[in-house]
Amino acid sequence: MAKIRQARPPVQTDREASNAEQRAFQTAADKPGAAAPSGLAHPEIRAEDDAEGMLRPRSLNEFLGQRALKENLGIFIKAARERKEALDHLFLIGPPGLGKTTLAQVVAGELGVDFVHTIAPAMEKAKDLVGILTSVTDKTVFFIDEIHRLKPAIEEMLYIAMEDYEIDWIIGQGPGARTMRLPIKPFTLIGATTKAGNVASPLISRFGITCHFSFYEQADVEDIVRRSAGIFKVKIDDDAAARLAKSSRGTPRVVNRLLRRMRDFAQAWHEQTITKKVVEEGLKRLEIDELGLERHDRDILRMIIERYKGGPVGAETLAISIGESIETLEDYYEPFLIQAGLIQRTPRGRMVTALAYEHLKLSRDRAGPEEPRLF
Ligand SMILES: Nc1ncnc2c1ncn2[C@@H]1O[C@H](COP(=O)(O)OP(=O)(O)O)[C@@H](O)[C@H]1O
Ligand SMILES: [Mg+2]
Repeated sequence: MAKIRQARPPVQTDREASNAEQRAFQTAADKPGAAAPSGLAHPEIRAEDDAEGMLRPRSLNEFLGQRALKENLGIFIKAARERKEALDHLFLIGPPGLGKTTLAQVVAGELGVDFVHTIAPAMEKAKDLVGILTSVTDKTVFFIDEIHRLKPAIEEMLYIAMEDYEIDWIIGQGPGARTMRLPIKPFTLIGATTKAGNVASPLISRFGITCHFSFYEQADVEDIVRRSAGIFKVKIDDDAAARLAKSSRGTPRVVNRLLRRMRDFAQAWHEQTITKKVVEEGLKRLEIDELGLERHDRDILRMIIERYKGGPVGAETLAISIGESIETLEDYYEPFLIQAGLIQRTPRGRMVTALAYEHLKLSRDRAGPEEPRLF
């Protein structure tokens, strides 16, 4: 049986720890070791992450939606298996919660190889990478999450490793130092990022396969929620699943989180089944509207409208105004607000659309006219 393990060292600096805290809400399952069945679980993993691990699809068949991406990948995996070669390096791009980590594990499972998981900022020094690459087994899937945050020295070492399955190791110091090339086992690097724009092009060019994740379609999210309910052994009506899917931002992680809350509500209200009524009442209590916006999303829109007259406002200014880091704004909130047609990115900054005014039931006058009117 192939094994899953978390690459050492997961040691975090203080800055990392505070970043991790900031992101804890949106990338709960992303913590190194979140899915590791071994004793290597990360101390920061919370109970809900375990629930997420439980829901994680284990095979391509269980991995719902993203049809085109899955079909192609299935072909590449089969071909690599038949040739008894390591799969080409794989680059996964997409907003949080869409299944990048899950897919990386599924690929390892389908290939029948070991899975090693790390997060780019956890590798501080070149020797951390050397330690991992020299100890992996043949054809291992080595998953680096948040690959846009790799340190340059590590990135350069990775280039040679990816291309030639070799690493440069510097021995000694000063004038006596020399470089030794060490062969390593063939492996598949899977890099995941929410920010493809921040990944250096020499690194991108070394990935043979690129997968872009898009938000899931309604029908796929419904399938996911029904599958998860099955695993939790809770009953959910079809119209309740549909209603829940509608408010889930096309994101599996979100629908699973909402399902857990609905399970709580159903239990509290002594309902045997999660009905549409439970979902509607539950979502109201969570202040999640029919577009899937939470209070904070609406606050962002309202802020742009009320303080910045609908925009444009620079991302940094906006992030400060709403008390979020720019990463959280850009990675978590914005992609969906853009996809839902509520805000637009322009060269001068973010602007709300007419739909945002409509959704919040605000008139444009409330924000003040853009040009001073004379009459
Ligand atoms: N295609 C899918 N089918 C079913 N469940 C999924 C799928 N993709 C993701 N999930 C669920 O959503 C959760 C979040 O996925 P994850 O892979 O951690 O997202 P990402 O790494 O992109 O942030 C997983 O725990 C899994 O249960
Ligand atoms: Mg992830």
